Amino acid sequence: MANVRALAAETLFQVVDKGQSLSTQLPYAAQKLNPKDKALLQQICYGVLRYLPTLEHYCQQLLDQPLKGKRRVFQFLLYVGMYQLQYMRTPEHAAVAETVNALQSMRAPGLKALVNAILRTFQRQFTELQDSANRIPVCQYNHPSWFIKKLQAAYPQKWQDILAANQEQAPMWLRVNKAHYSVEEYSELLDEAGIEHCLEPHFEDGIVLDKPCDVYSLPGFREGACSVQDAAAQLAARYLAPQDNERILDACAAPGGKTCHILELANASVDALDADSNRLLRVEENLKRLELNAQCIHADASDPSSWWDGIAYDRILLDVPCSATGVIRRHPDIKWLRRNSDIDDLAQLQKQILNNIWPLLKPGGTLLYATCSVLPTENSDQVAAFLQSTDDAIHQPLHENDTPSSPGLQLLPGISDGFYYAKITKQL
Ligand SMILES: C[S@@+](CC[C@H](N)C(=O)[O-])C[C@H]1O[C@@H](n2cnc3c(N)ncnc32)[C@H](O)[C@@H]1O
Repeated sequence: MANVRALAAETLFQVVDKGQSLSTQLPYAAQKLNPKDKALLQQICYGVLRYLPTLEHYCQQLLDQPLKGKRRVFQFLLYVGMYQLQYMRTPEHAAVAETVNALQSMRAPGLKALVNAILRTFQRQFTELQDSANRIPVCQYNHPSWFIKKLQAAYPQKWQDILAANQEQAPMWLRVNKAHYSVEEYSELLDEAGIEHCLEPHFEDGIVLDKPCDVYSLPGFREGACSVQDAAAQLAARYLAPQDNERILDACAAPGGKTCHILELANASVDALDADSNRLLRVEENLKRLELNAQCIHADASDPSSWWDGIAYDRILLDVPCSATGVIRRHPDIKWLRRNSDIDDLAQLQKQILNNIWPLLKPGGTLLYATCSVLPTENSDQVAAFLQSTDDAIHQPLHENDTPSSPGLQLLPGISDGFYYAKITKQL
């Protein structure tokens, strides 16, 4: 069996330095571990990514010079050690000894003395190190400064709450498949299985678990009784309000959570489109487990001339590619993989997709624009500009303060993830 701390250091190196996503690197590393170590690997990787600037600051203070080149991965091993010492309940001697031992499997026994010395000094000087980190805003909030600035501008009262929520572990939400059970019936099954949970009336298909569990321990999961989906994501199909026999386009569908929800709510003909063929396979897997049917299309939503058959849609869900800044607590790597310059590029792509998909909607039809971003550039600014430039677009408010100049519903991370929705219909 591989060494869990060595794998954590390698995974973090691949994410932070090589720009790989945690959701691809973690399963790759985890397959080498037993279930207990898999959980530890996940806990360490998520934790280090949540507190990266603070851990970097400690290393800066303790190392004469940063580890570079081939030795760079060992800097991540130091973060792994420090994270356990500061944030986990690992007994101190075990955290140091196990981190030093990881060097054996990393084929660097010669670095044992250095890593041991740094971690021991970290323990001794912890109070001073923590005080100095707390004086640096990026370490105080553990988010990139460009993102902190954008949040301060958009949410002058709430930006600190958003940053704090991003540092929390996200709850596990289930979406009950209404074709099998009502939420109340499924709640009884969870009670019988001893899985503690709550119902939240605001999210009519959702149940939130008191603590995350293995999906296969959920009653009827293999048979499609429920799916794992955040409460905010569950609003998409409800706002789209699909009806039986309609023709519906889910234009950015993968991995298919919302496609499946649409089909659970209505007996509709759904085209599930995505530009990423690997991710589209996940749509097919999800449809299969839930015994649902959709036409999966591998294509570019911004170029309908290459795939559209010319028959207009009754409803369109446009869950566009975005910065994913509303789901940082589930994907803490986003903080370090996104760049400030990505936001304008994404906004440009979203605009192109929205403009080019609009002609595919029937007069009288409904389009729901969605992102898992908290940034107005991708959300209300984007939709306000579209409404202004599109004569036959009619804004449909989702709540009483939803106006054409400040359109849509912005959910912030908390009980649910941070999502944005705006509903637009086409003039008859
Ligand atoms: C936010 S995710 C969609 C999540 C999905 N709706 C769900 O609920 O499971 C955005 C998706 O857009 C896809 N995408 C990005 N650019 C695209 C394009 N030009 N055309 C179609 N899909 C695109 C990505 O591959 C990604 O799967």
